[in-house]
Amino acid sequence: MIEKLKDEKNAIILAHNYSRPEIQDVADFVGDSLELAEKASKTDADIIVFCGVDFMAETAAILNPGKKVLIPDIAICPMAQMLKTEDLLKAKKRYPDAEVVLYINTLAEHKVYADCICTSANAGDIVESMNSDTVIFGPDINLARYVESQTSKRVIPVPEYGLCPTHHQITAEDLSDAKARHPGVEIVAHPECTENILKRANAIASTSGMIKYCKESEENEFLIATEIGLIHRLRKDVPGKKFYPLSKSAVCPQMKTHTLRKVERALEVERIHVKVPKDIAEKAMIPIQRMLSMRC
Ligand code: 13P
Ligand code: SF4
Repeated sequence: MIEKLKDEKNAIILAHNYSRPEIQDVADFVGDSLELAEKASKTDADIIVFCGVDFMAETAAILNPGKKVLIPDIAICPMAQMLKTEDLLKAKKRYPDAEVVLYINTLAEHKVYADCICTSANAGDIVESMNSDTVIFGPDINLARYVESQTSKRVIPVPEYGLCPTHHQITAEDLSDAKARHPGVEIVAHPECTENILKRANAIASTSGMIKYCKESEENEFLIATEIGLIHRLRKDVPGKKFYPLSKSAVCPQMKTHTLRKVERALEVERIHVKVPKDIAEKAMIPIQRMLSMRC
C-alpha cells in the first residue's frame, strides 16, 4: 500500500539512519543529517515523507517551499529544545566578534541567528572556515568540545550543557563491559557521545561517516557507540563484518516513533504537514544554504 500511495502522489520517503529497520527498508533514501538535507534540496517529488525528528523535517520544508513535507508522527529532539533564544543572544552580546555556527539539531527559529549551520559530518571544517577566531556553537557540548579539539578556534558552547540524552547514557562502564566481551575490537563513535567515550574511540564520525569507516577499515568487528538504529544499516551495507552496539539501551524514542502504519497513514491523509512560517524559513534558509554550498 505504501508503494502504491507513493506512486499515486509522487512522494518519496526519507529516513534517518536511526529509524526502525522496517522504515529503513521501505525508504527511498536513508542517511545522516547532511545527506538527508542534501537529498531534500534536490528531489523533484511533490511530497516528502520524513522519518526523522522535528528539526530535520523543518530543514526539508525550508529547502522546499513549494512542496509538502510530512512527518508521520510528532518527534521532538530533546537536544534541539535545550537551546534558548535568550542564551544565544546573551552569547552574541558577550562575544560580538564571534560568528555563530549552529548544529542542524536546532529549531528553525534559532537557525535564523546562525552564520552557518553544520552537521556532525562537517562541523570541524565549517567551524575552521569561519572568519572569526572565536565561534559561538550550540547546542551540543560534546560536539562543541570535539570541534574545538579539531580546529584552531576558540569555541563558546551555548547552552553550557546541551546534550543528546540517548548518547549521554552510553557510559564508560558500558565501554569497559563491551571491551571485556569483545576484546581487541575497534570502537567507532558518534561525536554526540561524552568525552569519556570519544577519548577511547578509534574513529569519530557522523552516522554515515561511521558506516564509511567500517566499510573501508581492514578490521572485521566493531563496537558501535551511537543510537542502535545504525546497527541495521551497518549489517545491511557492510555484509560479512560484525557490529555490536556499545550500549543496547542507546535508543532515541523520538526516532522510533515512526512506524509503517503511521507512514501509510501520513501518505493517505497527507498529515502531519510540517510548516515553517515564511519569514523564519527565508532567514533560516541562508545559513543552511551556506553549509550546503560549502560541500565540506
Ligand atoms: P548524524 O546522522 O548527522 O550523524 O546525526 C545524528 C543525530 O543525532 C541526528 O539527530
Ligand atoms: Fe536528538 Fe539525540 Fe535523538 Fe538525535 S539521537 S534526534 S540528537 S535525541
